[in-house]
Amino acid sequence: MFAIESKGLTKHYSNGKIKALSDFDLSVEEGKIFSLLGPNGAGKTTLIKLLLSIALPTKGEGYIFGKTTNHQDSRKNIGYLSEDHRLPGYLNSEQFLFYYGKMSGASNYELNQKIPKLLAQVKLEDKKSLKLKKYSKGMLQRLGTAQALLNDPKLIFLDEPTDGIDPIGRIEIREILLDLKKQGKTIFINSHLLSEVERISDEIAILKEGILIKKGRTEEFLESTGKYIISVERQKSNILTDILRNKNVNFESNEYGVIATIKDSDELNYIIDVIRMEKINIENIEVLKNTLEDYFIKILK
Ligand SMILES: Nc1ncnc2c1ncn2[C@@H]1O[C@H](COP(=O)(O)OP(=O)(O)OP(=O)(O)O)[C@@H](O)[C@H]1O
Ligand SMILES: [Mg+2]
Repeated sequence: MFAIESKGLTKHYSNGKIKALSDFDLSVEEGKIFSLLGPNGAGKTTLIKLLLSIALPTKGEGYIFGKTTNHQDSRKNIGYLSEDHRLPGYLNSEQFLFYYGKMSGASNYELNQKIPKLLAQVKLEDKKSLKLKKYSKGMLQRLGTAQALLNDPKLIFLDEPTDGIDPIGRIEIREILLDLKKQGKTIFINSHLLSEVERISDEIAILKEGILIKKGRTEEFLESTGKYIISVERQKSNILTDILRNKNVNFESNEYGVIATIKDSDELNYIIDVIRMEKINIENIEVLKNTLEDYFIKILK
């Protein structure tokens, strides 16, 4: 059974003038981190709203663990951090989680057990008495993530979870997400931060103007370029470039070393042998891969 499935999911606004999402087919396996990418207005939030049954589809169906999106059981299994959420500034984090927890139907006893654990999980235990109006963006985003975990959901939707967060905060959120994955949770992320997505996602889909452009495993987006970055001791880098020139290998030099376009592993090994025969120290050899950003820009252009 898939955690999420959609068949021909479509949402049009303004009598069909705005095609927010068109014939969207998707299946996300349980236990995976899935990321949906796309420029502003691509339809990412619309898809989440349809899957949560906050908005109703123009046509098509969505399923959460095999049940239709509007089924109560579907929602019981879901945690959700919305885009641009606003949390009540006059509450502290304990009061806030208690309030939201009660809305999810949890008992006082359960919440008293659960809230300290959640605050520890998102590293906010020392800020639990501080009013939310004094929280930084990163702290609010972490607390929002804790809120999405209150009902111990099997599936978590996070709409731009690292929006406006500094690099250290992003690493912390990434660790939280990987930890949740280890616990067997399925995570659905909408994001613009491609390097983040590249690091944690099992699968990625790219959406443009409501249409699915590509979906696949993350590795499929990070193809090898056939280029290798070779760095050797600086004083002898001109010998390396002579070797490549003699072998008719195309290359360019930059601050990290020489980027050589190498046909196959035979040619790579030959070049390594020649470098070593010249008694040059190899400091690093690395396959140059396309980043997700390269792919994203190429496909959207
Ligand atoms: N309630 C609504 N009424 C009319 N149009 C809407 C409504 N909600 C969304 N749209 C339109 O649907 C399209 C998709 O919007 P959506 O919010 O899903 O995009 P997004 O990919 O989440 O963008 P962002 O990256 O900016 O969050 C946009 O053209 C948007 O203006
Ligand atoms: Mg959005």
